[in-house]
Amino acid sequence: MAEEMLRFRGGRPLRGEVTVQGAKNSALPLLAAALLCSGESILHNVPRLTDTWTACRILNRLGCRCRAAGNTVTVQGGDVGGCEIPDADMRKMRSSIMFLGPLIGLKHACILTMPGGCELGPRPIDMHLDAVRRLGAQITESGGKIHCQAARLRGAKIALSYPSVGVTENVLTVAALAEGETVLTNAAREPEIADLARFLNACGARISGAGEGTVVIEGVSQLHAAEYTVMPDRIAAMTWLCAGAAAGGELCLRGAAPGDMESCLSVLEAAGCRLGVCGDRIYLSHSGVLRCPRRLLTMPYPGFPTDAQAPVTAMLATGSGTCVVEETVFESRYKHVGGLMQMGADIRVSGRIAVVNGVRALHGADVTAPDLRGGAALGIAAAAAEGESLLRGLHHIDRGYEDFAGVFNSLGAEVRRCPILSAGGGKMPAEPQSC
Ligand code: UD1
Repeated sequence: MAEEMLRFRGGRPLRGEVTVQGAKNSALPLLAAALLCSGESILHNVPRLTDTWTACRILNRLGCRCRAAGNTVTVQGGDVGGCEIPDADMRKMRSSIMFLGPLIGLKHACILTMPGGCELGPRPIDMHLDAVRRLGAQITESGGKIHCQAARLRGAKIALSYPSVGVTENVLTVAALAEGETVLTNAAREPEIADLARFLNACGARISGAGEGTVVIEGVSQLHAAEYTVMPDRIAAMTWLCAGAAAGGELCLRGAAPGDMESCLSVLEAAGCRLGVCGDRIYLSHSGVLRCPRRLLTMPYPGFPTDAQAPVTAMLATGSGTCVVEETVFESRYKHVGGLMQMGADIRVSGRIAVVNGVRALHGADVTAPDLRGGAALGIAAAAAEGESLLRGLHHIDRGYEDFAGVFNSLGAEVRRCPILSAGGGKMPAEPQSC
């Protein structure tokens, strides 16, 4: 298929309702965890994303029958043939590392290579390997492959040196089937971890404290399949709120989880947006110029999420005043700044700090998504900017957003998806029904 781009005619206020998609960062570990459970697990509200199709393909290659129909994915788990994740799939997304825990838990073995994903600086897997080693796995490396093997899995006390999301999730899936009790301290507290624990508990696991700093896992001998609904995507929700704030207008998000978004909502309030919350709805209205808060620090949950940093930076670029942004989670997460500057933004980056001087108005430009959330940031800027923008590198955006252009259009923006080499309107890529 020819490569595509988005053509934005920006500068229109955004008005309307958006139903928030299911959380990518919950759906991917849940799909991997379904491998552990005997029988057919049914997952609802799974977002239709290229990362989802990669996870489904890995499951099918491992011998679990995985089928997608709309936003529901069924996985036949518990009887996995292989234990090797192909290098091509490992490279496609960072979340392929989420298969490490379930494969060790079920097969006591896993062969993998280094995962790919967005380039946000070095993303080692040392903590993942240390954690599974503590639970009884032996790890060797040969021919560029990492071999993990466990004669027996035994619960252990594990203290993480940093509250890594992925490591916490892998510990949950290995320890769920290990002998005895595992106590994990300095665990990540992201809401997606509690979502994974709720699914595993519905499958017969005994996990308590997930979503808090200490998680206790009582190993059980087997897990059964369950039906489960993926939680709402707080980063996608924040993306649409930032777009509404930057372009001005009135939005209502339905199916959101505002309780998981406090640090995000307080940044929007500090910027001068009017917000209202009622059950699973978030209302935002804004007109005039946004105020830049003086400082913004990304942190593990419940701090401000690193994944929302790029969308917020784009929003603040359209404001007034100066904000000092500090990225503490990843080393290199400002690749979207170059595109924003092409659109007239005034942002200076030095290491993990970005100083955003609001310029009040951006102009259209021809820009390329550098990564998933950086691409979303450029989309927000393009919707707010005066004139026409072209946004390339859509494969990054398709990894994390269901119908990115369609949501903008439903809010009154003018965005067309079109092939790069020919003029005229394009169409969305076909969605695989079964992977
Ligand atoms: C998850 C999210 C990602 C988000 C990130 C931080 C998913 C699928 N992805 O990624 O969107 O940006 O949390 O909220 O849920 N680290 C190590 N060694 C390791 C593991 C991690 O040094 O073995 C470092 C990382 O390089 C990074 C930090 O720990 O600097 C946090 O990473 P982590 O919380 O593990 O993020 P992911 O689980 O990869």
